[in-house]
Amino acid sequence: MKILIVDDEKISRKILIKKMEVLGECVAMDNSRKALVEFEKAAKQGAPFDLISLDISMPDMDGKQMLQSIRKKELAQKIPREDRVKVLMVTSRMNMSNIKACINLGCNGYLSKPVSKYQLLQNLGKMGFDITEALMETDKDTHAGVVAKIIQKFYKGKIALPVFPGIIKEIQELLQGDSPSMEDLAKIVEKEIVISSKLISVANSPLYKGFDKANSLNDALLRLGMKATQGVISALAARNLFNSKSKSLKDVLEKLWMHSFATACLGKEIGLALALENTENIFLMGIIHDIGKMLLLKAIADIYPDKSLEDPELQVAIHEIHTTFGAVLLKKMRFSKDFVQIAEFHHWNTYSKGTEPELMVINLADQLAHLIGFGFLDEESQNPAIGKDANDESQQEQKSARKNREEMVSFISSLSSCKQLGLDPDKVMEICDKVSSMVRETARAF
Ligand SMILES: [Fe+2]
Ligand SMILES: [Fe+2]
Repeated sequence: MKILIVDDEKISRKILIKKMEVLGECVAMDNSRKALVEFEKAAKQGAPFDLISLDISMPDMDGKQMLQSIRKKELAQKIPREDRVKVLMVTSRMNMSNIKACINLGCNGYLSKPVSKYQLLQNLGKMGFDITEALMETDKDTHAGVVAKIIQKFYKGKIALPVFPGIIKEIQELLQGDSPSMEDLAKIVEKEIVISSKLISVANSPLYKGFDKANSLNDALLRLGMKATQGVISALAARNLFNSKSKSLKDVLEKLWMHSFATACLGKEIGLALALENTENIFLMGIIHDIGKMLLLKAIADIYPDKSLEDPELQVAIHEIHTTFGAVLLKKMRFSKDFVQIAEFHHWNTYSKGTEPELMVINLADQLAHLIGFGFLDEESQNPAIGKDANDESQQEQKSARKNREEMVSFISSLSSCKQLGLDPDKVMEICDKVSSMVRETARAF
């Protein structure tokens, strides 16, 4: 494999060479015009580059212009799509408009600086490069080797995709139809005994509590309404994905479920506070935002049953690739574009104006879930400032809780998603209070 690295910064070039040289022969250049000449020369000599790593911001001719010029030339030479050089855009300022522009110009992947080994592997796997062999030689049993193997298997279609039960599609179709009725909805739900009995307990849980207790499926459906029923059923079906027969995997997946569920509840409440229309959709987005992690954990446990899933280095690897992985997975499962985006971009640090509010809501909810003690495999400190009855506390405790609270509010106010959504940090803190006491109780109903 021949790789051309184009970047005007010396340090970036060095880092990229170090990460890519195990995969093949690297040529690094600091100027895109010269790189373009090198690219053409190699093609003429019959030894073309397979991959170009291209920095977006460079003086004179920037990465986007170079990409455009490459694709133009390939088009003029009538080179079939599969034979065109793969281009990986690299930038320190990743945002939606940059990504969209690069995709439109024909890039095959994008990475943000500093480039991580695992994200690089994930992108190469996605482009169809065989990365395992090169890595297996140098990194046989290391985490990079493990991750590379999983990525390769996934893109070769050798990892089974999670199956969402048919009931979700049935309900979706019903609600998209001309005049959906409660009776039709009941008919579909009735068939699934486990789901319909769970639906009743969810309707009675604090998440949807009304004035009267729902005793039957009909009560539950009436209380939830059509839209909420759809959300709850999808979440109930998704809950099954977080199950496993293996004990160690089961424990880890349970933690991930609690994190996802907390994110979903927080997202829904934030959506309500913002008066967004589709809060049930946001709820489901929260449930599946980390679906990439779920699949990776399952795949690793399956292929390497002796590996500890809580190993910190392995967790770093999983964390770094779960977003792109999740996005590909949801696309394959035919989820709509907004869901795919949630999986892919929910960990950005900054969001610009015009970003879809749902994406920023999930970003915020995810960080709040960590803050209130529903993180995933990190210090899960149950925060003393939240959900406690002030009367029970000594003055000392109250003081430290207050300080802690101030710190939390200031953390919330520093978040880009919170700012862009125009949310009052104190209001967000109230949502945290409300949700944290509700999550543990309600999670059991699912
Ligand atoms: Fe995540
Ligand atoms: Fe998350």
